Amino acid sequence: MKLSRIVGTLVAVVAGLGMVTVGQARQDLETREIMQHKLQHTQFILKAIALQDFASIQSNAAQLVKLSQMTGWQARQTPEYALFSMEFRRHAESLGKAAKAKNIDAATLAYTQLTFSCVSCHKHLRGDSAGTKGG
Ligand code: HEC
Repeated sequence: MKLSRIVGTLVAVVAGLGMVTVGQARQDLETREIMQHKLQHTQFILKAIALQDFASIQSNAAQLVKLSQMTGWQARQTPEYALFSMEFRRHAESLGKAAKAKNIDAATLAYTQLTFSCVSCHKHLRGDSAGTKGG
């Protein structure tokens, strides 16, 4: 009885550890995929801005907002990272709004601000504190 309970506990612990490892690997893969999609949508948006394709700007901006809300996006659990994510989402949202209003100047501005937010967060990831002030 006792031994079987110990064995049972051990099995549960080992299984649990295995799941943690697999979960972490999946999270890393998800993060990389999300970041790749992020880049693609941003490139599509630049093209759409150049061509004044508002529908494409709007749908790609919406995808960026969606990506920033996925768990795989949360690659770091720091307040700064959450702040950079929020900033990114805000610019993606105003980009969407500008496209909806068919305002190309506002869209271009929002795109530029979005680009700054890419750089700020990446600077932060590299541990460059100067990046937090958006220079
Ligand atoms: C809130 C933070 C944050 C913002 C904002 C952000 N990124 Fe990232 N980005 C990350 C993280 C985290 C990674 C993964 C880095 C790592 O740990 O390897 C990453 C990785 C990448 C990669 C490399 C993907 C790969 O295959 O390894 C590219 C390209 C990229 N980002 C582009 C962008 C672009 C373009 C923007 C702006 C439109 C942007 N990022 C905005 C956090 C961010």
